[in-house]
Amino acid sequence: MALLIDTDPGCDDALAILLALESDLDVVGLTTVAGNAPVEDTTENALSILDFLDSDLPVARGADRPFVKRQETAEFIHGEGGLHGDLPDSARKPVNTAAAEFIVERAREDGDLTIAAIGPLTNVALALAIEPDLPSYLDEVVVMGGAVRAPGNRTPAAEANLHADPDAASRVLQSARATFVGLGVTTRATIDPSTLDLRGARGETVEEWLTYYPEELKQRYGLEHSPIHDAAVIAHLTADVLDVDRRALEVDTSEGPCRGALVADEYGVTGESKNGEVASSIDVERFREVLASGIESAL
Ligand code: RIB
Ligand code: CA
Repeated sequence: MALLIDTDPGCDDALAILLALESDLDVVGLTTVAGNAPVEDTTENALSILDFLDSDLPVARGADRPFVKRQETAEFIHGEGGLHGDLPDSARKPVNTAAAEFIVERAREDGDLTIAAIGPLTNVALALAIEPDLPSYLDEVVVMGGAVRAPGNRTPAAEANLHADPDAASRVLQSARATFVGLGVTTRATIDPSTLDLRGARGETVEEWLTYYPEELKQRYGLEHSPIHDAAVIAHLTADVLDVDRRALEVDTSEGPCRGALVADEYGVTGESKNGEVASSIDVERFREVLASGIESAL
């Protein structure tokens, strides 16, 4: 499967990229978006992560802010510059094509591209806006986003990626075949780092990524270990660790307290047609095996 990763690295993004590159997925490139940190930083981080993984895949820089609202970042979770662990700056530069164009080019080339969208959805929505035929070149867009059957992590109702750019998320839902992998499953996508062999400098970097949540956040969410949200998307694509249900879905783009919430019609009460998929459960043990084996092979 040809896969493009649209990302805002981010510690869990770093582990998702690691897992994808160590899998049998054919990763064709990364596009970066503002999210966990400004896009200058997420782009530098993407290049440094690829260096760390010995990969020279292209990186295309994308949107520096959401369509409508002010940009919010989360360095207090992911570390200064958006990424814990001291990776050297990359000598490489992003390609000379904007992320949205890059997505369109790669999708046209492949004809059946899958996008793992693990940051705010601004780039993917822009790509759909500049090439209305894009959905016919895509297999699906698998989004880390939403909080179906779970509380939000950015607001009581909304998950951070969808809350960052609800208008973009709504556009993606309306235009492409989309699967949403939300907090209902990704907060269970954890691993105990002490079960892994993380000796040496490279192991320490991976350990920093795995333990990125500050203590107070783990307490707030009642978690023993940091959730590796974005890696759940890749584990799903490579090892089928999730169950998904087809539902009538809507992203709340209003200005009220539910802005950015992904609303799933679980009982079909609206009579609306089922326009997307949401992950409903995760095989946690299988997720851990897949992540552990990706980390072992990267180290
Ligand atoms: O809500 C979790 C998501 O927000 C993840 O993609 C994480 O990297 C942050 O961007
Ligand atoms: Ca992310």
